Amino acid sequence: MTERNVISIVDQRDSLRPPLPLTASGAAATAGTPLLDRLARPLRDLRISVTDRCNFRCSYCMPKEVFDRDYKFLPHSDLLSFEEMTRMARLFAAQGVRKIRLTGGEPLLRKNLELLIGMLAELRTPDGQALDLTLTTNGSVLARKARALKDAGLRRVTVSLDAMDDAIFRRMNDVDFPVADVLGGIAAAHEAGLGPIKVNMVVKRGTNDHEIVPMARHFRDTLGGAVSLRFIEYMDVGATNGWRMDEVLPSDEVRRRIAAEFPLVPVGADAPGETAERWAYADGRGEVGFISSVTKAFCGDCNRARLSTEGQLYLCLFGERGYDLRSLLRGVRPADGQPFSDADIAASIDLIWRGRSDRYSQLRSLLPPAEAGAKRRVEMSYIGG
Ligand code: GTP
Ligand code: 5AD
Ligand code: SF4
Ligand code: SF4
Repeated sequence: MTERNVISIVDQRDSLRPPLPLTASGAAATAGTPLLDRLARPLRDLRISVTDRCNFRCSYCMPKEVFDRDYKFLPHSDLLSFEEMTRMARLFAAQGVRKIRLTGGEPLLRKNLELLIGMLAELRTPDGQALDLTLTTNGSVLARKARALKDAGLRRVTVSLDAMDDAIFRRMNDVDFPVADVLGGIAAAHEAGLGPIKVNMVVKRGTNDHEIVPMARHFRDTLGGAVSLRFIEYMDVGATNGWRMDEVLPSDEVRRRIAAEFPLVPVGADAPGETAERWAYADGRGEVGFISSVTKAFCGDCNRARLSTEGQLYLCLFGERGYDLRSLLRGVRPADGQPFSDADIAASIDLIWRGRSDRYSQLRSLLPPAEAGAKRRVEMSYIGG
């Protein structure tokens, strides 16, 4: 990796400061109409990144050559506080969000995360329901934390795991972390009642595709099939992983390989906007999912918004620019010097979402490969999966 790459991603992060839409009065015209974006998609899912740091260096996400000792992670003062995140989450819940996923980097590295979970667990939707509160983790410290997370009010977890084979897993996390510790974390989460547990495996052709069947076999045979294993097509997210189409193994091929060993039957989607296509083992030993954002884009009913660690709102995983909500949390209204009210911020969210037309994965398949690769994109470790 050359120095130019390093500079370009730092610059990219620093330059993501588009002007916000107008607040309060701007939203009056749409008051009372359902909150839908320009492609008629509702807002249901908010992903909050709580740290941009991670103790792994998966090459498809935080390659060592870029995220090295000189890499400038965000200073603590730039991060949203738990109070700021909770205020945002409350306002998003009032606008229709029902699911909150904490991500990173690695979210369990953020100190006292249980306090944030406790605060988020108190929030309610307009019809009085608690939120579906979940978290994506690499599992490295889950064995130690599962019980406290559950006690704080977390409902469930999703664990990233790319191989059963210890040598391959150590190579993929690139910090020599053993697979046994992640498996211990999954077992501890199960014991603590943090289910239904999902395990996400990013499949890279030639790197871990021969681990597909061993992974399927392992999770069929353990914890009574309670873990749902999902296979993710390696995506062209971010600007540092050197993505190449020939390293993507299409989900249809992944499914064929599994079905050749363990027959599968399709399961209908249980919520609109779901990322995974679900299939059950014909013998009843649980299910698997396929997340195919490269070969079968699912932008059509994408209801996800992402809040970065420093309070930038992204409307797409492949977004080039975020909306600076932190400036509303910390700034004052130019008109009267007063802090922005909840109504001001809610009106901003309303306007931003109504203006959304993002559908990157769908469009990418139409772009010439050179153009798709050349787009400036935010890193996944910065806005979370
Ligand atoms: P559940 O509520 O547990 O079903 O979670 P989920 O599938 O909505 O979220 P999760 O974070 O587990 O998503 C799994 C993977 O799908 C992520 O790591 C990404 O690789 C991919 N993914 C999630 N959301 C999107 C999205 O909006 N667009 C694209 N292109 N990929 C996504
Ligand atoms: N392609 C697909 N999934 C990715 N993730 C990170 N980078 C990529 C990529 N390039 C996934 C990880 C994890 C979550 C945080 O995001 O596997 O499940
Ligand atoms: Fe860390 Fe997850 Fe990215 Fe791997 S994929 S470097 S575990 S944030
Ligand atoms: Fe949603 Fe963007 Fe992913 Fe499409 S590419 S599903 S719009 S986040």
